[in-house]
Amino acid sequence: MICLIQRVFRGAGSVLYKSIVILTGAGVSAESGMGTFRDKDGIWTRYDLEDVATPEGFARNPGLVHDFYNARRQALRDAEPNAAHHALAKLEQVVAGMGGELLLVTQNIDNLHEKAGSQNLLHMHGELARVKCDACGVAGAWTGDLFSQTECWRCGQAGALRPDVVWFGEMPYGMDGIYERLSACGLFVSIGTSGEVYPAAGFVMEAGMAGAHTIELNLEPSANARGFREGRYGPASEVVARWVDDLVAKLRA
Ligand code: OAD
Repeated sequence: MICLIQRVFRGAGSVLYKSIVILTGAGVSAESGMGTFRDKDGIWTRYDLEDVATPEGFARNPGLVHDFYNARRQALRDAEPNAAHHALAKLEQVVAGMGGELLLVTQNIDNLHEKAGSQNLLHMHGELARVKCDACGVAGAWTGDLFSQTECWRCGQAGALRPDVVWFGEMPYGMDGIYERLSACGLFVSIGTSGEVYPAAGFVMEAGMAGAHTIELNLEPSANARGFREGRYGPASEVVARWVDDLVAKLRA
């Protein structure tokens, strides 16, 4: 019954998903050179996440944390979106053109989805190209390096600026809106994420309980692959582009 409310059927066999939620993780940007976290050569094999991705690590050694994010910001300057980012931007346009809505929720702090043209995008783990001030709360764009003694442009305090990213132990951005959309979506797709980190890893369950069709696109089955009704596996640049082509063909049929 819920599925009937969430989907509008158009002709024999074709279906328009009125509301689609897509979750992406590091795997979607791997072929753009941004690196993943938990693969065998992943970022967490070289750094202890307690040191560089927690408020406690930042309090202990802000210089190390700034070096880590400065290097990632530097890598981002040279990175370009790949075929998966472009395909998702195209899908958003097609769905919008048919009166539907696609929300792209990314755990990635890179800006490759927006560079590819995605617009209805939520960075639940924050953004590498933004900083915020722990002293006065101001937040804004930041593309250069950040140092322990960098002064805040508004309050002037030195050492209070930090990357505007969500660290372990902090609340991801936009959760109320995400859960609202998950509870009303007809299709949920998870792309390039290991399914190891909550709350994102729990989205498939929320969407499934709401009656959505659920699909995982990943290099290999993730930790919660069994929670999805469908899975397609291989490099994102190939699998996502092919899946988008298939869906667009179905929507237009
Ligand atoms: P992970 O590194 O945990 O998982 C990346 C997933 O992408 C794995 O399942 C890989 O198999 C898959 N993958 C690798 N290359 C791929 C490719 N070319 N095409 C498709 N899939 C590929 O990264 P996330 O799941 O994004 O949080 O990690 C979630 C969060 O944990 C991150 O946002 C970050 C991290 O710690 C914070 O730092 C707060």
